[in-house]
Amino acid sequence: MLSHDVRGVADAMTESVQDVATGGGHVVFETDRIRVRPWRTDEADRLLDILSRYDVAKWLCDGEPELMKDRAEAVARIERYENRRTEDPHTGIWAIEVKQTGVTAGTVLLVPLPNSDAGEIEIGWHLHPDSHGFGFASEAARGVLARGFADGLAEIFAVTHTTNGPSQAVCRRLGMSDLGVVEKWYEGESQCFRITRGEWGASRPVG
Ligand SMILES: CC(C)(COP(=O)(O)OP(=O)(O)OC[C@H]1O[C@@H](n2cnc3c(N)ncnc32)[C@H](O)[C@@H]1OP(=O)(O)O)[C@@H](O)C(=O)NCCC(=O)NCCS
Repeated sequence: MLSHDVRGVADAMTESVQDVATGGGHVVFETDRIRVRPWRTDEADRLLDILSRYDVAKWLCDGEPELMKDRAEAVARIERYENRRTEDPHTGIWAIEVKQTGVTAGTVLLVPLPNSDAGEIEIGWHLHPDSHGFGFASEAARGVLARGFADGLAEIFAVTHTTNGPSQAVCRRLGMSDLGVVEKWYEGESQCFRITRGEWGASRPVG
């Protein structure tokens, strides 16, 4: 079910993971179309343009969304992403760059779920509306899943608002199982998806 580019990403992962582990490079991984790498502070305006939008921010938290207000906040956010990368290189919040245009489409992330005693890890994505509908979120997420499983994770969750159809469609494209509605980790009800390392491995072709 998984397409050709998934294999490409997964097969390319070993080298990329090594790069990150040794601090030897700033590209986390790349495919033919996208490069996943840390956000840069000179992209603060783009991050602001994404996170100041109600139609993006409303899906990213429980409760009332806090819209990003200005460039200084965006710079501080990017610095925070960078700090958490040096504290824990296994998880991260990264930019998705479209190689053909140089446009930064948005963010893909792998982070610990909040309010979790068991240390569960969630994958997430949020793109600028001008970059929806090209498959960039799913393509970046496949690479992040491959990296996470290559790194030893047993399972990876995705937690969406119950009404977030586009994000749930990404989960399904990735082969994640719909575990239904949960009231866990975030305030109120969420739709929870999960993929295990076994399921990820089984979805990849042999040979
Ligand atoms: C959730 C979100 C990332 C989904 O973005 P998306 O672009 O729909 O998702 P994908 O990257 O999987 O792209 C799939 C679409 O690209 C299309 N597409 C076009 N060219 C493609 C290609 N070469 N390869 C794959 N898909 C392609 C697919 O047909 C599909 O379109 P469809 O939904 O009309 O069928 C986006 O809606 C978003 O950022 N929303 C706001 C933030 C948010 O909700 N985040 C999630 C919080 S849980």
